Amino acid sequence: MKKVKTSRTERRFDSKTLLVTGGAGFIGSNFVHSMLKLYPNVRIVNLDKLTYAGNLDNLADIGCDPRHEFIRGDIRDRELVQNTFEHVQGVFHFAAETHVDRSIVDAGEFVLTDVFGTFVLLEALRRSPQVEFFVHVSTDEVYGSRDKGFFKETDPLNPSSPYAASKAGADRLAHAYFVTYGAPVVIVRPSNNYGPYQYPEKFIPLFVTNAMEDKPLPLYGKGTNVRDWLHVEDNCRAIELVARRGALGEAYNIGANDERRNIDVARRIVKLLGKSRDLIKFVPDRAGHDRRYAVNCRKLRALGWKTEIAFEEGLEKTVSWYVENESWWRKIKEQSAEFKSFYAEYYKDRK
Ligand code: NAD
Ligand code: TYD
Repeated sequence: MKKVKTSRTERRFDSKTLLVTGGAGFIGSNFVHSMLKLYPNVRIVNLDKLTYAGNLDNLADIGCDPRHEFIRGDIRDRELVQNTFEHVQGVFHFAAETHVDRSIVDAGEFVLTDVFGTFVLLEALRRSPQVEFFVHVSTDEVYGSRDKGFFKETDPLNPSSPYAASKAGADRLAHAYFVTYGAPVVIVRPSNNYGPYQYPEKFIPLFVTNAMEDKPLPLYGKGTNVRDWLHVEDNCRAIELVARRGALGEAYNIGANDERRNIDVARRIVKLLGKSRDLIKFVPDRAGHDRRYAVNCRKLRALGWKTEIAFEEGLEKTVSWYVENESWWRKIKEQSAEFKSFYAEYYKDRK
């Protein structure tokens, strides 16, 4: 069996100042929570523009924690980014435009944030020799779709949506900065995340909150597309581990190997909420809808990671979280529903 590359020395975070970009979003805020829990002496600088997807309520319980400093700002602001880099020893880059449907309607912000924004960060990185590592958060969507088997990190990238293509551009740019300038980049490619604080335009929180309101659950196509659902806490543990033990210049897939058809997830959600399956409505398919994402995670497991939250348990916990935190999603649901209606109209016009 071929040996997988691991770093010889383990990086340490205690007493370090770490920059997290996009730390007011879904995964970023979960990551900030997990790092503050894990490391009593860590300091986190959280740089987030607070787009529609960024939400300070995600960080409400750590608002007064002196170890956490929030900066409202844009990763494309070169001066701000350079000044911020001067005070940190490590970077976790989550900030991005992330919703495939929005990228189909208008790809511009995706290119500008995901590609150009990453470029600005990488430029600051190569001018900041004290930064020991830069974790670039990519996605499994960069590989594109495949019906059978699993993508390895060395497989070519073949993205389908403008979102995935922008992420692929950023992923390869980060790698190029390692090859060309020796920048201390390590890349992670997680599969579909779910859990608390996910903006209710994404599949699971949208379907849970719609079902709670007895609103239709818009299932694209035949509902047979497959995703590999990864609980956000398992993902955060993997990202922390890759930063600590991963080899610079390498990419690491992160997946739960727990594949589900969308229709089965939708049925499970209505069952957990005691609602009728009649709420599930088949709607026109997403343009260029990837059938299946699946990644091989052998390289990550060799660092010592495995999932701790199985999908059945994680989905039940997640549904309960949205039930118990109605005030969190109510505030943002109307705005997300506006995009959803606009999107439905957009598709009607295309037919
Ligand atoms: P999200 O949309 O919930 O959050 C993105 C955050 O980035 C928001 O807080 C937003 O305000 C911030 N942001 C956007 N543009 C910015 C800019 N120009 N400057 C500063 N901040 C900006 O996203 P998420 O689901 O938490 O995803 C985080 C990262 O993980 C992204 O890079 C995404 O591509 C990647 N990823 C997500 C998933 C998933 O299932 N959610 C899976 C794999 C990879
Ligand atoms: P999504 O959460 O948008 O993640 P991604 O497209 O990045 O995988 O969608 C997950 C799956 O759910 C995907 O196959 C599309 C499908 N989906 C629906 O069927 N209806 C919806 O309203 C949404 C948002 C997604």
